[in-house]
Order: sequence, then C-alpha cells, then structure tokens
Amino acid sequence: MSLTEKQLSAEELILSRHSVRKYEPGVTIPDAELNEILELAASAPSSWNLQHWRFLVIREQANKEKLLPIAYNQQQVVDASVVVVVLGDLEANLVAPKVYENATEQIREMMLGQINGAYQNNPGLGRDEAFLNASLAAMQLMLAARVKGYDTVPMGGYSKEALIKEFNIPARYVPIMLLPIGKAQAPGRATDRLPLQEQVIHERF
Ligand SMILES: Cc1cc2nc3c(=O)[nH]c(=O)nc-3n(C[C@H](O)[C@H](O)[C@H](O)COP(=O)(O)O)c2cc1C
Repeated sequence: MSLTEKQLSAEELILSRHSVRKYEPGVTIPDAELNEILELAASAPSSWNLQHWRFLVIREQANKEKLLPIAYNQQQVVDASVVVVVLGDLEANLVAPKVYENATEQIREMMLGQINGAYQNNPGLGRDEAFLNASLAAMQLMLAARVKGYDTVPMGGYSKEALIKEFNIPARYVPIMLLPIGKAQAPGRATDRLPLQEQVIHERF
C-alpha cells in the first residue's frame, strides 16, 4: 500500500524502508514529485551547512541502460524510474561564500577563515566531509522517497571509474552511491539486524 493511501507514523515509515531490487518498469515520477523528494533530501544537515551533496538525476532510459554494465548488470538501475547518483563535493569550502553571503561581515569572515583553514590544513578532510555529509542526504532521500510511496536501494556495487567516464563527472565530485527510485514490483527481502547490545557501547570502551 502506498503512503498516499495510508498515513504512516514516522516510526512505521522508517521501518517500511527496505532495499527493493525489483521495480515496475515504465513508471514515471512526475517532475514536481521528484523535486519534492530532492528538496526533502537536501534539507539534511551538513558540516558548516556546506551541503556537500550533488544529485545527478538519471531518468532517460538510454542513460539508465548505460548504467547497467557500470553497475555490474544489476537490473534495478534500468527498471527503476530514476537513478540518482549521489555525489560528494570534495571542495565544499568553495561554496562557503554563498552559504554565508547574508551573514554579517564579522561572522562571514570568521566562518570562511575557519572553513578554509580546515580544508587547507587537513589533507583528506575534503574527502571525509564529502562522504560523511552526502551520505546523510542519501539516507534522507531514501526516506523522502518512502514518504511519496516509492522505494529505493542504496548501491555501492558499480565501477566508479566507468561511471565518472560515461557521465563526464568532474574531478571535484566523488561518487558516493547510486540510488534507484521507483515503484516496487516485488518487496525487498526481510533483513535482520545485530542485537542492539552488539551495536551499542555505553559510556566508553
Ligand atoms: C553503501 C551501501 C551499498 C550497497 N550496495 C548494494 C548494491 O550494490 N546492490 C544491492 O542490491 N544492494 C546494495 N546495498 C543494500 C544492502 O544490501 C541493504 O541495505 C542491506 O542488506 C540491508 O537491507 P535493507 O536495506 O533492506 O534494510 C547497499 C547498501 C549500502 C548502505
């Protein structure tokens, strides 16, 4: 049942997300609805509010088919309505002037100094920040899709090099994951989780 038919609680919504690998082919997500999903995803938090994610939205069938060999023939990239390539910005510090353009000069100078200092003095920080923050947006995108009655599957099984080459992704952006979105043709398989006591450490190791 889609969420438009039945209003789920936040808890039910979170638990209703499963990785779906079989999609009804030929389903179009209307532009307005897709934009709402992406807007919701983009409301994710990020370090210094630098919004390190970029969404490469692939909807044309011919382009989804190009993804098939890149994603080692995982059929969901062809049958899903949309494949969002979640990218991380390795140079998100360059966005800071825009993010802080309406701040007072004093705040802006302080923030830009802090951000550029961090990026310039820590090799590897740009990459860590890109993965960390873009992953938050990706998770939010999966839940936003559920809100609209669609399913998703996060995918790390693809050739980054081939993806970058085929879709001409600039060096500034690192692929984080593929996120097919569509109408489930078959439900995702049930998955278990480790017992909570194996996942939670109280106070200190
Ligand atoms: C970073 C990441 C990469 C993944 N890569 C793939 C993938 O390439 N293909 C696939 O079918 N599922 C992939 N998955 C889905 C996982 O198998 C799935 O999330 C996990 O088994 C838990 O199931 P659930 O998502 O239904 O709760 C990936 C998940 C994550 C978070």
